[in-house]
Amino acid sequence: MRFDVLTLFPEIFQSYLGQSLLKRAIERELVDVALHNIRDWTKDKHHSVDDRPFGGGPGMVMKVDPVVECVEAVRGRSAHPGHLVMLTPQGQRLDQPAVERLAGHRRLLLLCGRYEGFDERIRQILQPEEISIGDYVLNGGEVAAMAVIDATIRLVPGVLGDEDSSQFDSFSGGLRRLEFAQYTRPREYRGLEVPDVLLSGNHDEIARWREKDARQRTQQRRPDLLAENE
Ligand code: ADE
Repeated sequence: MRFDVLTLFPEIFQSYLGQSLLKRAIERELVDVALHNIRDWTKDKHHSVDDRPFGGGPGMVMKVDPVVECVEAVRGRSAHPGHLVMLTPQGQRLDQPAVERLAGHRRLLLLCGRYEGFDERIRQILQPEEISIGDYVLNGGEVAAMAVIDATIRLVPGVLGDEDSSQFDSFSGGLRRLEFAQYTRPREYRGLEVPDVLLSGNHDEIARWREKDARQRTQQRRPDLLAENE
């Protein structure tokens, strides 16, 4: 799967891309991430990527021309135009079904904004899918783009060591519920013991216990998910 990140701050991604799981996926050519600096598509001598809003008001707005020309140029470099995603609090909320849908694309272009927002003509011309990672305002789309990359690569075959390990993730599959409690060694810590059933070796009983624990947890913490399943 290929990601093209369009941003004013490509350096924000460097240490994230060096992180072990992603680094291994890139080395094995399962994932490819290319960073593009939108500022490289400015033509004026100050390389300005933002300007004051017409009509007045606080803050600065991302200019239409560098963004549109950056997206067009990056798209034009490959035979496959890719699916354009704009990261913005105005977008559809990212959830696991959205992640699954995005992971179905061979190539995603992730457009990160800064400042108070995008010139509306960027939307009109490029018609991106707009994605928000939650109802709060970040300083820019970069953290949101990382969230999209991080969640989608888990679904790229071969990226996770154990092929099955994303299947039990909270929210995965049609059930949309939280994951059961997990334990590892030591068996006892400060008087807290691992439930006996997990040490029993009885796989049917373990599966039943996990099923029940996942259901209870979801009921207690996210009853809204259960309502969505009905
Ligand atoms: N840019 C600023 N805030 C954002 C959010 N909540 N989601 C995605 N992109 C953003």
